Amino acid sequence: MSKHDEDPTPNGELVLQTLALPKDTNSNGDIFGGWLLSQMDLGGAIAAREVARGRVTTVAIGSMGFLRPVPVGSTVSCYCEVTEIGRASVKTLVEVWVKQYDKSDQQKVTEGEFVYVAIDDSGRTRPVPSQR
Ligand SMILES: CC(C)(COP(=O)(O)OP(=O)(O)OC[C@H]1O[C@@H](n2cnc3c(N)ncnc32)[C@H](O)[C@@H]1OP(=O)(O)O)[C@@H](O)C(=O)NCCC(=O)NCCS
Repeated sequence: MSKHDEDPTPNGELVLQTLALPKDTNSNGDIFGGWLLSQMDLGGAIAAREVARGRVTTVAIGSMGFLRPVPVGSTVSCYCEVTEIGRASVKTLVEVWVKQYDKSDQQKVTEGEFVYVAIDDSGRTRPVPSQR
């Protein structure tokens, strides 16, 4: 899927951690992909808001593949790396890792590119402040 797939540990900063609950399952009894995607979007937004120092909105999501199912009850962790800062956009790479309570290691489930745009109170694009 990507050059990061075989990495033994997550890339980026832990931005969001939650528990996979039965209400988030699909008909196979595993966690629904759309739920995972929304956690990733939230995680990326947390990182992008710091860079943009204010409100952001999601403008694009890259293609994603899922390496393994997420069992109910696992701890889901989103790690985020800011990969590019443009005039108004913030590009991030979000990885999801899961850990079952009775296991010692966590495993990667997916990663995806999430792009955010800094917006003002009226929802109009605004420049990302200088990072210096
Ligand atoms: C985000 C939004 C304000 C951007 O408005 P816009 O007029 O398209 O903005 P611009 O064309 O000036 O682009 C702003 C930045 O976004 C980037 N961008 C726009 N569309 C993009 C896309 N599909 N993929 C990657 N980057 C994109 C541009 O390259 C630009 O980057 P830069 O300023 O760093 O050079 C507007 O498209 C919007 O409101 N979209 C809906 C957002 C939303 O509701 N998201 C939640 C999901 S429903």
